[in-house]
Amino acid sequence: MSRENNKFYITSPLYYVNDVPHIGSAYTTIACDCIARYKRLRGYDVCFLTGTDEHGQKIFKSALEQKLLPQEHCDFITGKFQELWKLLNIKYNKFSRTTSKKHELIVQEFFNVVFKRGDIYEADYEGLYCEACEDFKSEKELLDGKICPIHKLKAQEYKEKNYFFALSKYQDKLVKHFEENPDFIQPSHRKNEVLGWVKEGLKDFPISRQSVSWGIPIPNDSKQTIYVWFDALLGYISGLLDDTENSKVENAIKKYWPCSVHIIGKDILRFHAVYWPCMLMSANLPLPKKVFGHGFLTKDGEKMGKTTGNIINPHELINEFGTDAVRFYFLREISFGKDGDFSRDNFINRINSDLANNLGNLLNRALNLVNKNFNGVIEEPGLDNILSLKEKTVSTINNFESHMDNLELKEALDSLWQLVDATNKAFNNLEPWKLIKNNEKDKAKCCLYETLEILRNISILVSPFIPETSLKMYNQLGCDRLDENNEWKKVGWKKLKASFTVKEGKPIFPRVEEQKSN
Ligand code: MSP
Repeated sequence: MSRENNKFYITSPLYYVNDVPHIGSAYTTIACDCIARYKRLRGYDVCFLTGTDEHGQKIFKSALEQKLLPQEHCDFITGKFQELWKLLNIKYNKFSRTTSKKHELIVQEFFNVVFKRGDIYEADYEGLYCEACEDFKSEKELLDGKICPIHKLKAQEYKEKNYFFALSKYQDKLVKHFEENPDFIQPSHRKNEVLGWVKEGLKDFPISRQSVSWGIPIPNDSKQTIYVWFDALLGYISGLLDDTENSKVENAIKKYWPCSVHIIGKDILRFHAVYWPCMLMSANLPLPKKVFGHGFLTKDGEKMGKTTGNIINPHELINEFGTDAVRFYFLREISFGKDGDFSRDNFINRINSDLANNLGNLLNRALNLVNKNFNGVIEEPGLDNILSLKEKTVSTINNFESHMDNLELKEALDSLWQLVDATNKAFNNLEPWKLIKNNEKDKAKCCLYETLEILRNISILVSPFIPETSLKMYNQLGCDRLDENNEWKKVGWKKLKASFTVKEGKPIFPRVEEQKSN
């Protein structure tokens, strides 16, 4: 890997601070963290940026309801996001806030560049706007020409003189970019959706508001503030600045830009796959390499939302089951990119069968046999491949790697758990406890050594998903500290370890006793 291409810049969306974080925001952030951790394991120089989107009417109104100044409200809710990320073991490198001074300076500089380019002009706007989406709507997009289908709220009519961005100018360039970069939008079914919008013809859109005071002032026109999306997308650039750096776009982009991948939900695809690239083209800046739109979470088959009242509180879930269980469930259960469902019964089944039984018990049984019969030490034996899993281990590692590189997080775990299942089977068939009794110690040692070796590999591979559990496994296996920044070099069949001096085997994942909800 050359120095240049070993950089990996990944972003989560910048979350609105109108309310405390919910499981939907947690889902996106867990997925980003998992990908960032995987890339670090592979030795990449990773920058993972998350943050908060703090301007606009919706947030201004929430502050009023709370009887707080807008900035106080933003600080409070941003703190809630940061608390939750800590609880969920999210290891981000940058936290971008759109109310920071450096962000304001970057947005104004960007506005001026695009203005000079001739891509911003003043005109009257008359139309409909959904405040919850912070998006302009055509009648066609609304139910009965009035109601936002996502939020079930009435779109507001408004008429103002605004600054517009000349999006239509970039229609052909954008189509060309899609053609030349077939992987720009992923998964591929989302790409067709975007192509559909573009084919309908790109329309210029307002990038300022007169009636919204909680925003970044337009340079040289204090009567207007910048439209929240034109402002927020630039948080992916301003958030890269170190606090000591001069707030200039050229400083912000010098290390990690262009972004390797923006991870977003499908509802904000148009902003990221259409508006954002055109804004960057106008400013003559490189485009992100990929935009990945994941699906929505539903609960017991129904779309989660405040209006339906079936929201899952991430804190309750973490308190009851622990951080790794929460991280694991969503990544193991839902194909990343598709919609996915949460059900309590599924959650408990997953944790019990995958973590407590298949993985945890195997480790526990193997360690107990090593401790009881071999004083905790197993050396690399003369026999090889007694479990007949050498090839499967190697192919699992390869499959895992290619799934992870394609952001197929669930599929990566599927392939790992096929290996866990196969190891359980081979272990049970060989019955090492009987081999010990029958004085076939070499065979028993070989079986235990290979089981531990497979578990050692698995403990590294699962670390992006369940970092705490992975460390517990690693410690019980008596391995050195897991190097989060380059452990991949130790992945492989019989790599590195000549012997295992194991610790006491304690259950890594307690079984959850089934209690029926209600
Ligand atoms: N502030 C904008 C993003 C600006 S990025 C420059 C925004 N914020 S949001 O808080 O409303 O949503 C953030 C992300 O959470 C979106 O990607 C959205 O898709 C995701 N989710 C919100 N509800 C969700 C579910 N129920 N399920 C999965 N993700 C969902 O949009």
